[in-house]
Amino acid sequence: MATLSSTPYIVFPVLLFLLLLSIFFLSLINQNPDLRFHPSSSSTPNHSQTKHQTPEAPSFLGNVSTHGVPSTSTTTVEKMSPLERIEGGLARARAAIREAVRSSNYTSQKKENFIPRGAVYRNPYAFHQSHIEMEKRFKIWAYKEGDQPLLHGGPKNSIYGIEGQFMDEMESGDSHFMAGHPDEAHVFYIPISVTRFAHYIYSPPVDYSGHMLQRLVTDYIYVVSDKYPYWNRSNGADHFLVSCHDWAPEISIVTPDLYKHFIRVLCNANTSERFQPMRDISLPEVNIPKGKLGPPHLDKPPNQRHILAFFAGRESGYMRTRLFRSWKENDDGVQVYEHLPSNRDYAKSMGDSKFCLCPSGWEVASPRVVEAIAAGCVPVIICDYSVLPFSEVLDWSKFALYITSDKIPEIKILKAVPNERYLRMQKRVKQVQRHFVINRPAQPYDMLHMILHSVWLRRLNVRLRS
Ligand SMILES: *[C@@H]1O[C@H](CO)[C@@H](O)[C@H](O)[C@H]1NC(C)=O
Ligand SMILES: *[C@@H]1O[C@H](CO)[C@@H](O)[C@H](O)[C@H]1NC(C)=O
Ligand SMILES: *[C@@H]1O[C@H](CO)[C@@H](O)[C@H](O)[C@H]1NC(C)=O
Ligand SMILES: *[C@@H]1O[C@H](CO)[C@@H](O)[C@H](O)[C@H]1NC(C)=O
Ligand SMILES: *[C@@H]1O[C@H](CO)[C@@H](O)[C@H](O)[C@H]1NC(C)=O
Repeated sequence: MATLSSTPYIVFPVLLFLLLLSIFFLSLINQNPDLRFHPSSSSTPNHSQTKHQTPEAPSFLGNVSTHGVPSTSTTTVEKMSPLERIEGGLARARAAIREAVRSSNYTSQKKENFIPRGAVYRNPYAFHQSHIEMEKRFKIWAYKEGDQPLLHGGPKNSIYGIEGQFMDEMESGDSHFMAGHPDEAHVFYIPISVTRFAHYIYSPPVDYSGHMLQRLVTDYIYVVSDKYPYWNRSNGADHFLVSCHDWAPEISIVTPDLYKHFIRVLCNANTSERFQPMRDISLPEVNIPKGKLGPPHLDKPPNQRHILAFFAGRESGYMRTRLFRSWKENDDGVQVYEHLPSNRDYAKSMGDSKFCLCPSGWEVASPRVVEAIAAGCVPVIICDYSVLPFSEVLDWSKFALYITSDKIPEIKILKAVPNERYLRMQKRVKQVQRHFVINRPAQPYDMLHMILHSVWLRRLNVRLRS
């Protein structure tokens, strides 16, 4: 089959728009050899969601234009194509966000239970309005083609669990973001679980090659691009896949042209391995225990945190080798363990610590970042080339510290962080907690909505022509 890369369409990134919300992550990381002090606060809203109808089974046989998104302006709607309607809505959303930035305020038709404010946000007004617009407008179509177990189902627990939780949220029928018909959709979700795939295909382990995985994803894209007009229309710029598995970035290695605009939502967000922050999205890795939705929240007050810095975990990857060489079990202040003593509790130890060390492992992502935030512990990121989750919105430098690998022997300088500064950062860690909590069904501003918001932003950045 011919490649899809030459299809006619236009996508022009409104880069300025994204920059309005961002200004950018890469510069945050690893360019300053010093510790960078960055870092705050609220409770979860009880948002009684406007219940939307569960998506009806679509018919692809016709009457497509009658399935348009209900619009507030009813007069001109009839004459518009579904895509024009979608682009019109996006244009209004962009205008509302610009206005929110200009006026330092928001517009909403309903009561806002949570108003993002403070230094943790790059631009709180832009983010707030963008989230409001997303709640109001955003529609996603999850392709129905394909069967379990490789499609339409993923792991909901353990370190890749976010992949299955996201998929389940999209496909359970409860999310008001799901479009009733693909013509209403702003973006298209490819419901492939790379983790499931790795589990079924490479277990028991055979010679690993990414070939079969690439075939699966590519074939799926060929099927849906042949059957429906949506992929060709955007060249994939409004299509996305979500995976936390280490291998997920491999999907696009063999046929990079096909995936040139495709949005990959990845835990393994290594900018040195073709992760592109303007297009791709960094997904938080969360170690989800069975029967739970994330790590425990242990909010000890700052003055009861008697450990300066804490880490426990295996020696996987060069960063940890360096960390162990300097600190393994030889200091009371900087507590670094490969095996935590049996009388110590991992989550509680994080709750007892002022700083939690988050060195990269075999891959850039570490569940420790989310665990640290849940424990109200200031994360210390020790990782090259990574893009942290939600960096378009959150200014990590305000609530996390960065240490480059060569400074690992000097971790004790964390002691020199003035107390007021520490307190400020710790407060901000608590402030961002809501964005790192998984709820089912998802709630405004929680982790699943933040992931959707990242996708929404990529879509806002693209304009499609009918
Ligand atoms: C949220 O509000 C609903 C309806 O008012 C109530 O039944 C529910 O208990 C509330 N949930 C929380 C977490 O407050
Ligand atoms: C399209 O709409 C017409 C009129 O409402 C109806 O008679 C017809 O069955 C519909 N076709 C499909 C494929 O739904
Ligand atoms: C901000 O907007 C809200 C809702 O539109 C309004 O109630 C509030 O008075 C505005 N605040 C300012 C400072 O203009
Ligand atoms: C999309 O483009 C490909 C390659 O040019 C083509 O094979 C396919 O039929 C197109 N899909 C549709 C729905 O026209
Ligand atoms: C990121 O990618 C580079 C280049 O392949 C690699 O050297 C580095 O180890 C990766 N980082 C991690 C933490 O895996």
